[in-house]
Amino acid sequence: MAKHGKPLGIDIGGSGIKGAPVDLDKGDFAEKRLKILTPRPATPDAVAAVVDQIVDHFAEQTGDSPIGVTVPAVVIRGTVLSAANIDPAWLNTDAEALIQEHTGRSATVLNDADAAGLAEMYYGAAKGVSGVVILTTLGTGIGSALISDGKLVPNTELGHLEIDGYDAERRAASSVKENEGLSWEEYVERLQVYYNTIEKLFSPDLIVVGGGISKDADDFLPKLKLRAAIVPAQLRNKAGIIGAARLAADLA
Ligand code: BGC
Repeated sequence: MAKHGKPLGIDIGGSGIKGAPVDLDKGDFAEKRLKILTPRPATPDAVAAVVDQIVDHFAEQTGDSPIGVTVPAVVIRGTVLSAANIDPAWLNTDAEALIQEHTGRSATVLNDADAAGLAEMYYGAAKGVSGVVILTTLGTGIGSALISDGKLVPNTELGHLEIDGYDAERRAASSVKENEGLSWEEYVERLQVYYNTIEKLFSPDLIVVGGGISKDADDFLPKLKLRAAIVPAQLRNKAGIIGAARLAADLA
């Protein structure tokens, strides 16, 4: 568990890099979160420098506790292995080593949707749920977390399922609704196709839907016809930070 101070969670996103110390008993931020705009280009070194700024900002509250950092990419043992929605310079970067170098702190790096899935499992919509849970985040892309009886299977990347010849996130991410000006009805049709495929392949007991659009869950979730229960995420945009901090503390 955390040594001296609260673990720090940091979420590296396309527009902002956000961080907050996390209260692991409550599953909530222990302090107001700090957001710094993502540098352009968002190369590993430029981003790690911002991560270091966030670490410095919360130095007093977090002491030498571990930090958990999310990236929108596949991460295996700290190394980034995909770059669908991040700068290609991240490919094959040992992000954990890089962040440790910049910050002098022990860091755990994981996929953003996996972090959100962990947070929902420990503190939110999937708390206490047995069986298979799939969390999907609908945003710029589609992220996914697969949890089986409380254990995360990392890096599932279900946003890149190929459906009807399309990369799924290019049809059903919430950014697509915006960019193509889809009505709720049109967007629900796309989501129905997407979640039908998820059901066909994984037969989950519960589907949790996160991402910014989950705040409008009433406009679309009740319209989806699925066998599994489908519910909005509860921790909203806090989930990534909370899940990352929790994992970093658990691994420390
Ligand atoms: C990436 C995933 C990420 C998701 C949400 C996808 O394009 O491939 O790694 O979790 O976007 O950010």
